[in-house]
Amino acid sequence: MKRVALLISGGGSNMLALVRSMTGDHPARPVLVAANDPGAAGLVRAAELGIATAAVDHRPFGKDREGFEAALLAHIEAARPDILCLAGFMRVLTPGFVARFEGRMLNIHPSLLPKYPGLHTHRRALEAGDAEAGCTVHEVTAVLDDGPILGQARVPVLPGDSADSLAARVLVEEHRLYPQVLRRYASGVRAPVFLP
Ligand code: GRF
Repeated sequence: MKRVALLISGGGSNMLALVRSMTGDHPARPVLVAANDPGAAGLVRAAELGIATAAVDHRPFGKDREGFEAALLAHIEAARPDILCLAGFMRVLTPGFVARFEGRMLNIHPSLLPKYPGLHTHRRALEAGDAEAGCTVHEVTAVLDDGPILGQARVPVLPGDSADSLAARVLVEEHRLYPQVLRRYASGVRAPVFLP
């Protein structure tokens, strides 16, 4: 059974979708949900599901990323995860942190990578007049939002869409895609899956 630690920054809807999927014959189980904000609503939801939680506030560390990560790593290493899932985690990790989990760390990004790495993905898709948008699960490497793609799901951009309405439509697909990719990944499958 694979041990999965999940990193969040906010509400944790992707974390919940992953946690709820790890039951029955699923080859993995959640062992920790950690956040960079002690006030992240997702921590409360994880605790309600009986999962160990931890929070390290990144703000007191200011520009000291390594210091913040060292504090976070203490919790992560104690949980001994086989796989690390970034699920709405909004801190950019240093190459040193990434190297420690390379080949066993996943992230969900709300665009059809390689299009629109970084922030404001839905607004950028609308500004570009794209007919489609979507989300991507990828392995995390030292280059932001750039690692090997493990899965994608597409949605149409509809007339009158705002960044918020598009984000809501994509989020539904995120909650479908990420659990499927994690199940495959925990079973050793690296071939990407593209959801209809
Ligand atoms: C999601 O769109 C995710 O892709 C992005 O942050 C949003 C919120 O995620 N990184 P969650 O509800 O906190 O999982």
